[in-house]
Amino acid sequence: MSVADSLTYMTGFGNEFETEALSGALPKGQFNPQRVNYDLYTEQFNSTAFTAPRSSNRRTWFYRIRPSAVQGEYQAIDNGLIRTAPITEAVTPPSMLRWDPIDIPTQKTDFIDGLITMAANGNANGQSGMAIHHYALNANMDNRYFCNADGEMLFVPQQGELLLFTECGKLTIKAGEIAVVPRGMKFQISLFSDTARGYLCENYGDPLHLPERGPVGANGYSNDRDFQYPVAAFEDIEGDFTLVTKFNGNLFQCPIGHSPLDVVAWTGNSAPYKYDLSRFNVINTVSYDHPDPSIFTVLTSQTATPGVANLDFVIFPPRWMVAENTFRPPWYHRNLMSEYMGLIEGVYDAKEHGFVPGGASLHNCMSPHGPEADVFEKASTVDLQPQRYENTLAFMFESRFVISPTAYALHGKERQHNYIECWQKIQKKFNPKTP
Ligand SMILES: [Fe+2]
Repeated sequence: MSVADSLTYMTGFGNEFETEALSGALPKGQFNPQRVNYDLYTEQFNSTAFTAPRSSNRRTWFYRIRPSAVQGEYQAIDNGLIRTAPITEAVTPPSMLRWDPIDIPTQKTDFIDGLITMAANGNANGQSGMAIHHYALNANMDNRYFCNADGEMLFVPQQGELLLFTECGKLTIKAGEIAVVPRGMKFQISLFSDTARGYLCENYGDPLHLPERGPVGANGYSNDRDFQYPVAAFEDIEGDFTLVTKFNGNLFQCPIGHSPLDVVAWTGNSAPYKYDLSRFNVINTVSYDHPDPSIFTVLTSQTATPGVANLDFVIFPPRWMVAENTFRPPWYHRNLMSEYMGLIEGVYDAKEHGFVPGGASLHNCMSPHGPEADVFEKASTVDLQPQRYENTLAFMFESRFVISPTAYALHGKERQHNYIECWQKIQKKFNPKTP
């Protein structure tokens, strides 16, 4: 049995969990007793303001070997290819953009070194917007740990399998699963495969939560019970370690003489979680046309404007297509919201060529897009039968804020400068004499 198979999880989105790696470590009936069993230290971890409404308030109580304040002085380190909003190094064009996958590194590269920021929006300092990174790694984070004060982190693996050892415990993720680590939570990433690659959305805004269901009712879409949270696990080790922290757009590191993953017990609702995207209950039309892609929203981070997202995480999973008298691929459209797409596996129905697993595209606010010429021809003439879309999994990070590509995204070798050509073969078909 692999380590991944041996891990156990607690279930239920945003529950008030309690878990202890040593029996009796959790205080009973209160959070902050004068003395904690095993002589642990108490530390509260707040992912929302103390005064956030109860329905959205997230916090966790840690019972740990040392409080987090026991660490060395920070020093700035090189940011590598990590960038933070607002992006000012390049002008944001209205162009439709697309990229090949980033390479798997050949030099020893851990998760932190393997991050490349492709785009960002909003303002991290103002806690709005997000950044989109691609990651590729071939090495474990040896002797160092990571913490991101700028946002929570949504992992979307595309290949390989990772172990996320966090303050709350251990999770594994592989392609087809996602994980979310709260803002400011310390963790270390190890590989279960030789290499790994994927996408990472850094959400500067309100923590992701499940979308409302409206008339769909009490069930459907992503169901609360399918979200998995780690049980408490800790390491009690000392040595010459480093804590790397992303704060206000820059990387810093400090020495730390012990593992910061020393939480023996915890209780609360701010914790990392994972979700198997195949559990998503896909709802779609059974008559004609097809709904807006928001019907595939797995998680959302809202702004103060009702119904307008800071970040929607949307998937395009395997599903049946049964719509009658309908052009079934996405329609041509222009949208207030800005859309960054990735592909985990297979083929996306609007783009049969050029949009490949591990790659990405960006269609910003009001930028026109839709099916390439060949797809239009096929989809507008095909005999419509019920059809199962198999072995495909695309996703979208969608936001109300214009998504600014980084200088690397615009000028790096992954950019497909010929992307616009996929629409150039679209012919005028208009004939005013024939309705
Ligand atoms: Fe779109």
